[in-house]
Amino acid sequence: MQHTLLLIKPNACKLNLIGRIIDMVERNSFVVKDIKMFWMSDTTAYKFYEIHKEKPFFHNLLDFMTSGNTVAVILEKENAVDDLRLLVGNTDPSQANPGTIRYLYGESTTINAVHASDSADNALREIEIIFNTNKEN
Ligand code: CMP
Repeated sequence: MQHTLLLIKPNACKLNLIGRIIDMVERNSFVVKDIKMFWMSDTTAYKFYEIHKEKPFFHNLLDFMTSGNTVAVILEKENAVDDLRLLVGNTDPSQANPGTIRYLYGESTTINAVHASDSADNALREIEIIFNTNKEN
């Protein structure tokens, strides 16, 4: 079994979509192994998205991710990383396939409702950052 990380981003939390998104992942045979709601700090957002620090959208992304509550969910399933990416859909909601989470709930490429880890290694790294033992999230 593989683990991956789903983040339900601030726009989706504000719009009361947490239950609907978790229902979609559970109906697609993912098992929730851990879950928490938190307001992401600047430090955590920087660490989480550090790979994008040179990109033009980096500061907008950090502003958005620190603008309200996020729900982080550790999900388990065979082939969890790739299967969740399929269910989440394209980064740009206007390019996402119908029925995907971003097609349904994304507003723009930055305000795209959810994050899903893009590899097994990144899933481990991201789970460590968000569910660490140091509570400074
Ligand atoms: P996420 O899956 O959280 O991973 C990186 C995030 O950067 C991505 O979702 C988007 O929110 C954001 N992002 C990626 N590419 C762009 C882009 N071209 N313009 C704006 N935001 C982007």
